[in-house]
Order: sequence, then structure tokens, then C-alpha cells
Amino acid sequence: MTRAILLTGGAGFIGSNFVHMLAEQRPDWLCVNLDALTYAGNMQNLAMVEGSTQHRFIHGDICKTEDVERALDACGDLPISVVHMAAESHVDRSIISGLPFVQTNVLGTQVLLDACRARGIERFVHVSTDEVYGSLGSEGFFTEDTPLAPNSPYSASKAASDMLVRAAFHTHGFPVLTTRCSNNYGPWQFPEKLVPLMLANAREDKPLPVYGDGMQVRDWLYVEDHCEAILAVLERGELGEVYNIGGHNEYPNIEIVKTILAAMGKPESLITYVTDRPGHDRRYAIDASKIDATLGWRPRWTFEQALPATIEWYASQVEWLQGLRTGAYRDYYAQQYGSDSEG
Ligand code: NAD
Ligand code: TYD
Repeated sequence: MTRAILLTGGAGFIGSNFVHMLAEQRPDWLCVNLDALTYAGNMQNLAMVEGSTQHRFIHGDICKTEDVERALDACGDLPISVVHMAAESHVDRSIISGLPFVQTNVLGTQVLLDACRARGIERFVHVSTDEVYGSLGSEGFFTEDTPLAPNSPYSASKAASDMLVRAAFHTHGFPVLTTRCSNNYGPWQFPEKLVPLMLANAREDKPLPVYGDGMQVRDWLYVEDHCEAILAVLERGELGEVYNIGGHNEYPNIEIVKTILAAMGKPESLITYVTDRPGHDRRYAIDASKIDATLGWRPRWTFEQALPATIEWYASQVEWLQGLRTGAYRDYYAQQYGSDSEG
């Protein structure tokens, strides 16, 4: 192994896709995966790397210095870079209670920064979101210079973490880079987010809940493209910089829902308009020209290719999806690994 990546949140949606990408594209890198296995973490997402010497799972919490130190120890003498994805990530949950978001996204990020600074690492990529910029009208795009104006407890906690990361760079010269990406879709996403929830409900002929008028716009990016952008930033980004990541792929929610129904051969009568999300951001759209011009990254997947591929993937993973719907996925870690904290 030539270097170690300490990945936080690698049993979640984007994290597990990142693990798979590293296994394929950087087989000489050790991936140490620190994850608390909250409801959003699922070891089944990582079944493909089970038993691999390139992947090491550490069951632990980024809010606990001793857990972060355990993960850093697992990197051995290799040069270490950090990719920080662990977070509470769902807006609707943050509306019910903001506290877990402040705990993991804010406190956890500071604990991680401090422990990594004490150890000495090469690079720290902080994976953030376009939601820190707030909401757009029908015109314009978020650039890296757009002022932060978060509107939900989720996005506010992510914006706070962005500021802590920025402060670590300016105060301590800590080698950080920040990415802000638009909405992702693809394999292994927890079926509480729009795309997998609609796929799962449509499969079972259950109502598809569309918030408000369904005309809120998101800029959809296939998760593999996001992972490759993070890798580009990790390898070639300039320290202290922020990089927006997006696909210039804007669609209103209702169009996404109708496309899914059509692709699955299900009737639009399943669509059910429900009360809007409080404080619902109207439109997100990313200007990703900086990462294109400076690092040569642009999305490889078009929506027309990747959405059908995603629909097909979920259709082939009925058991996985059922496990998430019933909660059975939570037993998998204990069954595979007993009560040990490392796997
Ligand atoms: P996710 O909710 O699917 O996964 C989060 C992971 O973090 C889970 O495995 C969970 O167990 C773990 N985790 C939570 N709290 C932890 C803690 N205290 N210590 C250790 N691990 C903990 O999230 P995701 O969709 O994969 O998002 C990953 C990152 O990307 C997040 O930081 C999110 O803000 C950001 N992001 C997500 C999207 C998106 O569309 N999903 C878009 C832009 C940015
Ligand atoms: P979501 O996947 O929760 O991502 P985010 O809120 O971080 O953008 O939601 C995407 C969009 O879909 C958002 O505008 C809210 C909307 N939405 C619905 O209309 N119905 C749903 O059941 C969900 C989960 C989301």
C-alpha cells in the first residue's frame, strides 16, 4: 500500500460508492473507513469489499477523539489523507430535530479536524453541499463566491462545518479542501431521499408523496461522477480552495417522479401531492466551471443514461431495498462481525 485514506461515513450512500471506486481505481491505497453505523450506515453496501486487505472498517463515532485516533492508528505508517463524508444528511430529519445534526456535522467535524491536526496528515477533503448557499430564484447559479445562506437545520450545520474547516486552514495552515455538490442519485442510497423513495414506493404501488407543487428544482448528479470529482480534488486540488460540483442537470421534482413512473410502467395516479416541507428551498443550480477549468473534471454520465441505470439497479436489489424498508439491514453488521468494533 502506498498511502492511506481515512474515509468517514463510508457505509453511507456516497461513502460506499467511494469505497468501490477506490477499490477499482486506486487498489494500492488502504481505505480506513470510520463509520458510526447510524440508521444511514449499512454494511451490506460494502459486501463487495468484505475480506479485502485494501479496506478496513472501524466502527466508531467522529465525535469521539478516541475513535478517530483508533482510525488514524489503523492507517499505520502510511501517509494519510482524509475524506470527510460522515454526516447527518436528511433535511426532513433535521426539521424534526436539529440536535443530531449539530452533534455530528459541527462538533464531529471539529473533533476530526483536531485529531487529524494533532496526528499530522497530508490533505483533508471536506465533503459539503450546495445547500449551504440557500435557495435560488428561476435564474442564476451558485458559484464558490455565492454567500452562504443556509435555510434548514441540515444546511446550517453543514455551513457551520464549512466555516470550521476554513478556520483550520487560516488559523493553523491545516491542509483542507472543500467540495460543495448538488443532489446525488445512484446505487446504495437510503430510501428516504427523493429518487430511491419514489422507486421503492412505485414498486409496491404505494403513493408517491410530492411536496407542495412539485416544482422545486434540483441539479441532479450521478454518484459516480461525484466520487470522481472528490478524487480529483483530493489528488490535484489547491489547498484552502472550495470546489462546486454539479451536472448542469436541473429538473423539477415532479418531472423526476413522472420519469420514474414512466420507466417503471406505473400510473401517474400514484402521485400524491402532500403538504410542503417547511422552509423548502425552491431551486439549486451549480456553476461547476472552476473544477472543470482547474482540475479537468466534468460529469461522465448523462441523466438519460444514469437514471435508467439507477432504476435498473434498484430493480435488481429488491432484497437490499426490503431490508432497508423493514429495518432488517441493521442486523447485518452484528451477524457478520459479532459485537467487535472492527471488521
Ligand atoms: P448518508 O446519510 O447516506 O451517510 C452518512 C454516513 O455517515 C452513514 O454511513 C452514517 O452511519 C455515517 N455517520 C453519521 N454520523 C456519524 C458519526 N457521528 N460518526 C461516524 N459516522 C457517522 O449520507 P450521503 O448522502 O452519503 O452523504 C455523504 C456526505 O455528502 C454528507 O456529508 C452530505 O452532507 C454530503 N452530500 C450529500 C449529497 C447527497 O445528495 N446525498 C449531496 C451533496 C453533499
Ligand atoms: P431530498 O432527496 O430529501 O434532497 P434535498 O432536500 O437535500 O434536496 O429531496 C429532493 C427534493 O424532493 C426536495 O425538493 C424535496 C422533494 N421531496 C418530495 O417532494 N417528496 C419526498 O418524499 C422527498 C423525500 C423529497
